[in-house]
Amino acid sequence: MSIRLVAIPEDREAVAALLTRVEAADGHQPIGEHKYLMLFQGDPERVVGVIDEEDSKLVAYVALTPNAEPGWWAMELAVDPDHRSPDTFLTLFEAGVSEVARRGGSAVRAWLFQPRLNEVALRAGFIPERELLKLERRLPAGFQSELPDARLPDGMRLAPFEPGRDESAWLEVNNAAFVDHPENGRWTKEILEHRMGQTWFRPEDLLMAWEGSTPAGFCWCKRVGGEGEIYVLAVAPSAQGSGLGRALVLQGLALMEQGGDRVAFLYVDADNQRALGLYRSLGFHTDHVDRSYVRMLK
Ligand SMILES: CC(C)(COP(=O)(O)OP(=O)(O)OC[C@H]1O[C@@H](n2cnc3c(N)ncnc32)[C@H](O)[C@@H]1OP(=O)(O)O)[C@@H](O)C(=O)NCCC(=O)NCCS
Repeated sequence: MSIRLVAIPEDREAVAALLTRVEAADGHQPIGEHKYLMLFQGDPERVVGVIDEEDSKLVAYVALTPNAEPGWWAMELAVDPDHRSPDTFLTLFEAGVSEVARRGGSAVRAWLFQPRLNEVALRAGFIPERELLKLERRLPAGFQSELPDARLPDGMRLAPFEPGRDESAWLEVNNAAFVDHPENGRWTKEILEHRMGQTWFRPEDLLMAWEGSTPAGFCWCKRVGGEGEIYVLAVAPSAQGSGLGRALVLQGLALMEQGGDRVAFLYVDADNQRALGLYRSLGFHTDHVDRSYVRMLK
């Protein structure tokens, strides 16, 4: 086992190949989209991570990303399916933590998707924190934009996002709806524009709800390769509980069906009872669970 810091751009291709192998084995991306984009498009200076090589072959990548909370770092692991022993994981955890400590970080939040890693995480001094569920359902299922539940509450209207005009309205709703959320809250115009610059972004897939000139909510769909993701769903706090959230999801699902998507999916915190109730009532089931663990360094 030979652990060293990742070097970008030199290691980029090997890391990409590893991430593809891991995704093929596990059925989903091992590291979050934000970190993935930083690796390939972002400033190489902001990509921090350690890699593990055996016989010159890259077998593990530990992505380390500073969070919005000062001093907090996120840690995600991509480990080759043939190299997943508890000892390897323990070494990788420790390497990630040492690097964060070296950079003066005060806490590490690790995201893990395998329940059997619970014990290793505890051994490495982490304590369980949050659970993120991936929910999914097959399409088509008869979701149509004309159905009564898909109708917006009285006085509201639906319109596709208009780039160059709607950014601040979007940020207002998003940051109010996710005020305490560690990743979804506190978005800036820069982050939003970065996502809008992705090849999958289509303004017509981002449905905005308006009450007069006030933004009330949105359902942002990301549609790639026959799969539709409810990428971000938010209702302004003053409009919550009015049926708008349900209507927006139904509009999003109708859009996916119309576009021929065969699967709809999304990620949701396990303690978000309201959103979970909504999705389950629309036939979504749990595909898998990612868990976060925290280790304080100071
Ligand atoms: C989740 C959210 C989009 C729902 O929108 P909303 O307009 O408040 O919800 P609705 O009024 O349409 O209610 C939808 C469903 O939520 C569920 N629900 C509402 N309140 C609930 C509660 N307190 N407990 C459990 N379920 C609840 C019900 O299933 C309800 O269905 P019903 O029509 O049978 O009553 C909204 O609360 C929100 O923006 N929350 C913050 C951001 C967020 O969590 N986004 C989703 C992340 S995946």
